[in-house]
Amino acid sequence: MSTIILGIESSCDDTSAAVCKDGKMLSNLIANQEIHKAYGGVVPELASRDHEKNIVPVVHQALEKAGVDKRELSAIAFTVGPGLLGSLLVGTSFAKTMAMALGIPIITVHHMKAHVLAHFIEDPKPAFPFLCLTVSGGHTQIVLVKDHLEMEIIGQTIDDAAGEAFDKSAKMFGLPYPGGPLVDKLAKMGDPDKFAFARPRVPGLNYSFSGLKTSVLYYLQKQEKENPNFIKENLNDLCASVQKTIVEILIKNLIKASKETGIERIAIAGGVSANSGLRDKMHEMADRRGWEIFIPRFEYCTDNAAMIAMTGHFQYLKEDFADFGVTPNPRFGF
Ligand code: KG4
Ligand code: ZN
Repeated sequence: MSTIILGIESSCDDTSAAVCKDGKMLSNLIANQEIHKAYGGVVPELASRDHEKNIVPVVHQALEKAGVDKRELSAIAFTVGPGLLGSLLVGTSFAKTMAMALGIPIITVHHMKAHVLAHFIEDPKPAFPFLCLTVSGGHTQIVLVKDHLEMEIIGQTIDDAAGEAFDKSAKMFGLPYPGGPLVDKLAKMGDPDKFAFARPRVPGLNYSFSGLKTSVLYYLQKQEKENPNFIKENLNDLCASVQKTIVEILIKNLIKASKETGIERIAIAGGVSANSGLRDKMHEMADRRGWEIFIPRFEYCTDNAAMIAMTGHFQYLKEDFADFGVTPNPRFGF
């Protein structure tokens, strides 16, 4: 009999549903919430309300596109954390109710582990062990992946995440939220060596991005005093320089981690792995250092339910089911 998993993702501002049959992804639907742009960041209460509005049609369409009837489902997997409590509650309550009505088990999925397992949606899939740089709006981690469900964080940020560094820099440049993709776009037309920003000194494999943010802020304040049009006149170069700095900070520890562990199979995951500067740098590392690199398709980099359904599939095979009394865990650790 086939294993068919419905995956649901609602940890932040994207409502997503996907259907996975025997490890093969049949659909992956995402409803993006545009409303947060006006506020310069995700407003948790508005995010929950939009999830509530979107979840039924998104799940319906994911099943329809997959050509799967809900009565054929083996289990429902959903993001239980980390994330915004109100957002997680919508996915959790919906998944529990639907599974209860269908008489099938539920599977609770860790959002960051799912970003790593996005690499198993399509070929080429990494062999074990491999290192995964998981970079999103809320996390920056180097994960040692020993098996599908066996992972260890060997380095992480002690303050801001890489995505935050992109978004906060973008905000200082007057760009709308989320700024990461815009910085990426404008950086393509700029000079990455025009401006130099602070790089952190953090022991071990950990990261820090708060110093970079302060360095950009002070530099802009100083320049704008002399020329109020400074940002406008240098926008592309500012974006290129900030992007180069963030990418180099990320890659430096990844090289260190590879040397320390002796592992040269290296993957990137999470929203920031959509960044073209980071992707280019990974290809450069493959050429220069002989790394075997793994970069997911854009669709599977940012938040999506396909990665939740994929993780759910692996947990299903291990009969890792949750109790129906489970509640979301906004600070879910590894
Ligand atoms: O994984 P994700 O979709 O959501 C979280 O779990 O946080 O990551 C979102 C983050 C945001 O900070 C966004 O600006 C960043 O990923 N991002 C990018 C790019 N695309 C998304 N940052 C830089 N360049 C991009 N192309
Ligand atoms: Zn994410």
